[in-house]
This record gives sequence, C-alpha cells and structure tokens, in this order.
Amino acid sequence: VATALGRHVALIGFMGAGKTTLGRELAARLGREFVDLDDEIERRVGPIGEFFDRMGEAAFREVEAATLQPLLERRVPTVLALGGGVIRDLREWALTLLVDVRLEDAWERVRDTGRPLARDDDAFRQLFYQRATRYREVADAAVTDLEDAVLAAGGVHVETGALERLGEFVPGSAVALVSDRHVAGIYGADAQLALGARLVSTHELPPGGEAKTLASAERLLNDLKLDRRGTVVALGGGCVTDVAGFVAATHLRGVPWVAVPTTLVGQVDAAIGGKTGLDTPAGKNRIGAFHWPERTIIDPALLATLPERERRNGLAEVVKTGLLAGEPLWELPEPEQVRRCAAFKTAVCLRDPTEQGERAILNLGHTFAHALEAGSGYTVPHGEAVALGLRAALRLSGLPTSDVDAVLRPEPVRVDRERARRALAADKKGGRLVLLEAPGKPTVTAGVPIADVHAALDELIAE
Ligand SMILES: NC(=O)c1ccc[n+]([C@@H]2O[C@H](COP(=O)([O-])OP(=O)(O)OC[C@H]3O[C@@H](n4cnc5c(N)ncnc54)[C@H](O)[C@@H]3O)[C@@H](O)[C@H]2O)c1
Repeated sequence: VATALGRHVALIGFMGAGKTTLGRELAARLGREFVDLDDEIERRVGPIGEFFDRMGEAAFREVEAATLQPLLERRVPTVLALGGGVIRDLREWALTLLVDVRLEDAWERVRDTGRPLARDDDAFRQLFYQRATRYREVADAAVTDLEDAVLAAGGVHVETGALERLGEFVPGSAVALVSDRHVAGIYGADAQLALGARLVSTHELPPGGEAKTLASAERLLNDLKLDRRGTVVALGGGCVTDVAGFVAATHLRGVPWVAVPTTLVGQVDAAIGGKTGLDTPAGKNRIGAFHWPERTIIDPALLATLPERERRNGLAEVVKTGLLAGEPLWELPEPEQVRRCAAFKTAVCLRDPTEQGERAILNLGHTFAHALEAGSGYTVPHGEAVALGLRAALRLSGLPTSDVDAVLRPEPVRVDRERARRALAADKKGGRLVLLEAPGKPTVTAGVPIADVHAALDELIAE
C-alpha cells in the first residue's frame, strides 16, 4: 500500500533534516497526533546525549527500538518523526517518507546542538553518505517540503515527465490500461511503452461524459481479464478516471488502480481522493464507490495539448482551491499550481476520506454551478458554471468577487430559471451551503434564507 490511509506516516532521514518541524506540520494538516521518537525516549531514559555517553550507542539503539515498537502498534494513525539512526522496513505499520536534506544544511542546523553524532564535521559527513542510500531503500518516497509530504501521504506524485517513468509507479504483475479515444491517440503509445511487458490489455472509452454510463462500465468490466493481483491504470480526464476507478472498485470486488490524470480538472481534482462514479438518467454521479487509487501520477507536461475550453474548466477548480486555501494559487506557474492544488485536495480527503463532514467544503460554488448546468440542459460548460457559482458563494459570504472576476471573467448565462431553482433545492443537501468566513476559512452553513439564495442565483442568469 502506497498511502497513509489508516496507517501511520513515519518520517525518517538524517539528523538536521527537519523531521520534527515537518512532522508537526504534517500532523496538523492530516488532523493527526504528532509523536517524536526522541521525546518518547527522553521520557524513559532522560537526555539522549547523556544516556548515549554513559551507555554507548548499542544500548541506545536497544532503547530506541523498544520505544518505537509500541508506537507503531498504536491503532489510531499518527505522524511519527524517527531518529536518524532508524533505518528499517516499517511497511507493515507505516508509510515511510524520507525527509531529504543537503549535507551542508544538516550540518549548519546541528553543529552546535551537542548531539552525540554531530560533534565532528568529518565523522558527520561520512555518516551522511553511509546512510544516504540506505534511507532510500526503506522509504516509500522522498520529500522536501510539507506539500510533498501531504501528496506522498495520499499516494500522489507530481513530476514533469512522470509519464515516461509510469512503470515504476504502478504496482502489480499485470496491468490493464484504460483511456479515451483522444487521450489514447496522444499519450497512449508513451504509456504503453512505459508499462512494458506487464501491460496485458488496453481499453478505450468514448471521450467525455459518454464514458460515464452503466453501459460503458459494463463493457469495460466484460473486457477486463485481470486477476486480483492486477492493476487498472486510468489515463485521461475526470471521465476516464471516474469510470476506470469505479470498474477497479467493482471488478472481482475490487482491484488496485492508478490514476494518471491528463486534464487540469483531473490533476487538481477528479483523480484525487478516491471518489469514482457514473451518471444515470436520475442524475450525475448517482452510482459510485469510494476507492482510493493506489497511486495518482500527475505529469503537468500532459496539459500542453489540452484544448483551451478544457483548461478553463480546470482553472475554475484552481480558483476554488485558492479561495478555500486562502492563497492566490492561480497566480503560480502551472506545474506549481497543480502541485499546490493537488496537495490541498489530498489533505482534505485524507482527513475525511468518505465525506462524513469536512470534505463537503470542496463543493464551494458547486451547488450554484449544478443548478445552472441543469437549468441549461447541460449546455453551459462546467468551468463557466463553477466560475459563476463561486461568484454567488462569495456574494453570500459578503466577500469581494474581484479575483474570480479577474481570473475567470464569468458572464451571466441564459438558463431556465425554474429548472435551475429546482435543481438548487435538490442539490442543497439539508439546505446546506458552503460559504467562506474569509478566504481560507470555509464553513458549511444551513442558515442562509432561501430568498437570498434565489437572489444570488438570479444574478448569474442573463435575461
Ligand atoms: N471523482 C471526483 O472527485 C471528481 C471531481 C471532479 C470532477 N469529476 C468528474 O470529472 C468529469 C470531468 O472531467 P474532465 O473535465 O477532466 O473532462 P473529460 O474527462 O471529459 O476530458 C475532457 C476532454 O479533454 C480530452 N482530453 C483529456 N486530456 C487531454 C489532453 N491532455 N490533451 C488533449 N485532450 C485531452 C478528453 O478526451 C475529453 O474529450 C466529470 O464527469 C466530473 O463529474 C470527478
């Protein structure tokens, strides 16, 4: 398992790498308890330096191992920062992340702290190189900052050029590749090459929403020949990952899958967090399953071929994420924009994987968007509808709409007002709406008078 769902995250790495600081921040992001192994050891034996000098390294390692084991066996998943000397396979209990650091930075941080193994510059350097490769052997991923760590905890990897190395990220002995006609034509051959001899079949879905039907899922389920050790790889936009993920959730009662999103919507939203789904005549995403992808491999370079209209759909989700995070993420260069948005969604979904509560904040603006889409008979593009929906949510929150207006330039759309109102009433689960107390402070509220909600909707509708 390549994620921290239901498991501890263990941070390993050299002294001075910043495991404690990063661990504390990561724990806060994931809503988990933070445990520092050194603190736990000191609680048992007193100051580590003194114990080390008095009893020697071997005795220290014994105490270290004896202190660590009960922490690993705790049921409630935590974030654990381990000492630099802990280099072992922890896979049974934890997702293991190596906190990467440069030798010079590590030395600067620890040289005057009196740590037992940091009293001599030469010995320090030697130990650094001795351990460097061993850390990598036992780590599931290497990280340098908080966003990286959050992404790794969700099994998400963001790297320009990652498609070429896809084979390295996909588990299992046999692989079925699912894509749509457009995407297969552009990136199918690269994906096949990267997956190599493990690829046992390739499958094409119709592009766009046509893929998200029971009939197309049934066809894929019938064609799939994987046994339970096989992996489904979904290469495409949100429609492909929603269907392939659902098929992976149900084929033989569930096989692992890897999402490789190729649209901006997919890279910042749809391929993250394990929601999969199909549309039925009764509504969008009426059938589905929570089935977290084993890995989500995001290669921002794949967006180079994305049509402008699809990019705009994604940009609306980027702005939504920025408003939720309280940072103008839309101003960042695209690869970083993708990384930050993906990390934001990953953290929310790790805190609430089955949407019992907090995950609902991701619907900011979407209640209005769905109403406009339904009111137009699904002719208004999703991004346009989300842009307008964000405008309404900001208005009702009493916040300026200037960022949404400047970045997304939403224009009121012609829709059937009554149909839109009916859709709004059906979508607003229990009368609840996501609003912002301030940028970065979302809140789910039931207290907005219906007249105000209708007034906000009316402003989005062209006469
Ligand atoms: N599961 C979730 O959490 C979640 C979240 C958001 C959206 N969704 C779902 O995602 C779907 C929308 O996804 P989408 O916006 O990615 O659309 P999409 O999958 O329909 O892709 C849009 C179009 O772009 C083409 N395309 C994809 N990648 C391309 C590339 N790199 N270059 C050129 N063309 C490319 C596709 O072939 C398609 O024609 C909806 O069904 C929505 O319900 C799911």
